Amino acid sequence: MERRGLTGALGLLLVAAGCEPRIELKPGDPELVRAARQLFDGRCANCHGPRGRGDGPAGRALSPRPRDFGDAAWQASVDDARLRQVIVGGGAAVGLSSHMQSNPDLADSPVLVGELIRIVRACAEGQGAKDMSPETAKQAP
Ligand code: HEC
Repeated sequence: MERRGLTGALGLLLVAAGCEPRIELKPGDPELVRAARQLFDGRCANCHGPRGRGDGPAGRALSPRPRDFGDAAWQASVDDARLRQVIVGGGAAVGLSSHMQSNPDLADSPVLVGELIRIVRACAEGQGAKDMSPETAKQAP
């Protein structure tokens, strides 16, 4: 599984965890947003696709296919707590496909997971690639 972007994100988290200099990262902080986008590009886009449509190169081969984050009915049916549970615990934790991998290393980074959830929400129909990182937006069809 791809782990690109992890190093940068973890470096950031170490800083956030209190290694000096202490930086309090809050939701929406540019560094945090960047780390989350790197994580999405490196860990999620391969299956979920650059725009979260479930059409990433690895995702297309899966059955069931990765969730299409553009599906408005699905977006409305899940709350953030559920998304958090799936992202950290993996699909198997909530009775979904175990191809949706767990990310146990993010369990101690609730704010970063919150930004990942924001990215998932931003893939909803009509949002387009405006909230995607430049790299992700470039790959988008
Ligand atoms: C190896 C492929 C793969 C990777 C990598 C992957 N996913 Fe998934 N994901 C899936 C599949 C397959 C499903 C659908 C599971 C099902 O419907 O049974 C899914 C479902 C989901 C769902 C929907 C859960 C629900 O309640 O319906 C969310 C949210 C999600 N993934 C987020 C992420 C995030 C965020 C990442 C990156 C940290 C990620 N996924 C990485 C394959 C993947």
